[in-house]
Amino acid sequence: MSDITRGIIAGTGSYLPEKVLTNLDLEKMVDTSDEWIYTRTGIRERHVADENTAVSDLAIAASKAALESAGIKPSDVNLIITATITPDYIFPSTSCLIQHALGAENAGGFDLEAACAGFVYGTIVADAHIRVHPDEVVLVIGAETLTKITDYTDRSSCILFGDGAGAAVMVGSNDGRGLLASEMGVDGSGGEIMMIQAGGSRTPTTKETVEKRLHYMKIRGREVFRFAVIKMEELVRNAVEKAGCSTDDIKLIVPHQVNIRILKASAERLGLPMEKIYVNIDRCGNTSAASVPIALDEACRSGMFEQGDLVVLVAFGGGLSWSSCLIRW
Ligand code: ACO
Repeated sequence: MSDITRGIIAGTGSYLPEKVLTNLDLEKMVDTSDEWIYTRTGIRERHVADENTAVSDLAIAASKAALESAGIKPSDVNLIITATITPDYIFPSTSCLIQHALGAENAGGFDLEAACAGFVYGTIVADAHIRVHPDEVVLVIGAETLTKITDYTDRSSCILFGDGAGAAVMVGSNDGRGLLASEMGVDGSGGEIMMIQAGGSRTPTTKETVEKRLHYMKIRGREVFRFAVIKMEELVRNAVEKAGCSTDDIKLIVPHQVNIRILKASAERLGLPMEKIYVNIDRCGNTSAASVPIALDEACRSGMFEQGDLVVLVAFGGGLSWSSCLIRW
């Protein structure tokens, strides 16, 4: 027993929409090839929400699975944090829609936008909330329908993105488990590297912005690549240093699924074998805030770590923003 109550993850869940878009499908849409996409990114296929499915639909399915695995009723949830860059609406928040659909009648809720780093930010905020309110239950969700903001005339970006949702139920524990180290950071000077230009208060949507396709994501891939490789190594090294352990003690790193070459380069810089890095980018593509919780749920359900193991969540993306947490599971 310890004096500190930390947030632990009591259950996880995820949901991927049924429809799959393969590299061969993309070959028919833009000038690309399965070979180019797979060798440059590690992606073979990604899931796509249909036109009647919004991000809250994916998030609700993932949340139900997480609550079930934690054995917690929706009415026991005190706070819902949803990380997304593709909310159903500008407002009301996606967390409000999820609260209503789940029947989480005792919950507060808000959305959090830290792009691909959003779920890990949410996990850190949930842990801080639980340290102040040790008896409370927090539902943290990362959910995206990126394919709805993807420009399918831009071959350099449209091959990357997929849809999905993941969720974690966090509760308090004072048995030494939980978040042992965490980090959140941003560098707004890199904001233009990945962005959607129109639709906000700077450039409200007009006929002209739509004609210029400014409501779609634009990315400068090579710059993202350089940033991500350096940042992933730095985040993992900082986390183990803060927690007073070494990279060899880590059972599994669950990273943002951004590009297999980024994950391999980071693993090499860290001196870790790829078996310690969870990868599902081949099946899911980049799902931004949903990427870490989907990967975490898959790794958890397939028994890749057990109680007491050290697991690192690490994410980086638009903003620029980044975050990590080292968890004793
Ligand atoms: N198919 C075929 N050729 C392509 C394609 C494609 N889909 N896309 C680009 N090319 C061409 C380019 O035109 C270029 O041709 P050129 O040499 O004749 O000019 C060549 O391939 C190389 O292009 P690069 O952009 O240098 O390719 P790179 O190896 O950097 O790979 C990629 C591009 C995959 C985007 C990579 O930079 C990357 O993974 N970046 C990080 C991931 C990323 O940006 N994620 C988005 C984050 S935003 C978010 O998560 C919400």
